[in-house]
Amino acid sequence: KKRVLSGVQPTGSLHLGNYLGAIRNWVAGQADYENYFCVVDLHAITVPHDPAELAANTYTVAALYLACGIDPAHATIFVQSHVSAHAELTWLLNCITPLNWLEDMIQFKEKAVKQGENVAAGLLDYPVLMAADILLYDADLVPVGEDQKQHLELTRDIAARVNYLFARNQPPILKLPEPLIAKAGARVMSLTDGTKKMSKSDPSELSRINLLDSPDEIRKKIKRCKTDSIRGLTFDDPDRPEANNLLSLYQVLTGKTKEAVAAECADMGWGQFKPLLTDAVIATLEPIQQRYNEIMADPSYLKDLLKKGQEQAASVANATLERVKLAFGFTLP
Ligand code: AMP
Ligand code: TRP
Repeated sequence: KKRVLSGVQPTGSLHLGNYLGAIRNWVAGQADYENYFCVVDLHAITVPHDPAELAANTYTVAALYLACGIDPAHATIFVQSHVSAHAELTWLLNCITPLNWLEDMIQFKEKAVKQGENVAAGLLDYPVLMAADILLYDADLVPVGEDQKQHLELTRDIAARVNYLFARNQPPILKLPEPLIAKAGARVMSLTDGTKKMSKSDPSELSRINLLDSPDEIRKKIKRCKTDSIRGLTFDDPDRPEANNLLSLYQVLTGKTKEAVAAECADMGWGQFKPLLTDAVIATLEPIQQRYNEIMADPSYLKDLLKKGQEQAASVANATLERVKLAFGFTLP
């Protein structure tokens, strides 16, 4: 079976973009692959963070993986900081990654601007840690949203560089992974601006639908989301980013084809469409929330699962780390 690895940061609450761009696709493929799903808490401290929130969010994200349908029988679920090989391999990779590769990362540039004066070295290094996450498991496939494509390319470049430097004309040390980006839902946009992606870090709560929002909150957010005053609803009009985003959301949530949605909504006004979208969002999130509450009611279940995940993940990761260390010329104790 091919290996899959992916992760979400435990910062803020998970939203529809995280679900449709990432987690839903993990669930859809889980029976076909050998899966590793990680809560990437080391990534979460690359911007200023609150320690108490980090701990709570780590459990919330792990519980949401399960609530969204990840089956522990198919997947190893673990916390990144529980497997020390992630931080260790990052150091080795740091020392062979050219600085200008990191300075070219779009996400770094965007986040650095937001941080102003207070940009940590770890923020620049974020994609190297992500490369370590992936390369430690010899992952074949990495299911992520569109925004992570550049980081996946960097991961491949780093792996190729290690192979070139330390295993030229020999079997490769590291496997080059492929991104797995879904056709629909890979880029869910903000509800308050159809040209920006839905994001955990947007200061406006109205911009996103969180997976744990109540039906009333969902209703309110969709009622107040940005629309336009053009009659009829259409996909793919560059002047109507909000219409495209909301129709696309409706399409992925209902599982209808684009053609069917285009026909259904061609003559609708927003007043008619919004309740349909609201119902589709609530119908998707209600069962997830129900399972989430059940999982959180028994904290020892989750802790035990993460402990087992740590053991399974560490045995794979440590073997890769040792292979890389030997290739770099390190001695072993
Ligand atoms: P993050 O919230 O940055 O930890 O992202 C976790 C996963 O969700 C990654 O695979 C992202 O590509 C994906 N993701 C985040 N925001 C969106 C969005 N607005 N649309 C689609 N996928 C997203
Ligand atoms: N950088 C990813 C994001 O923000 C999260 C992440 C960290 C990740 N390590 C990973 C995703 C490894 C896939 C594989 O979305």
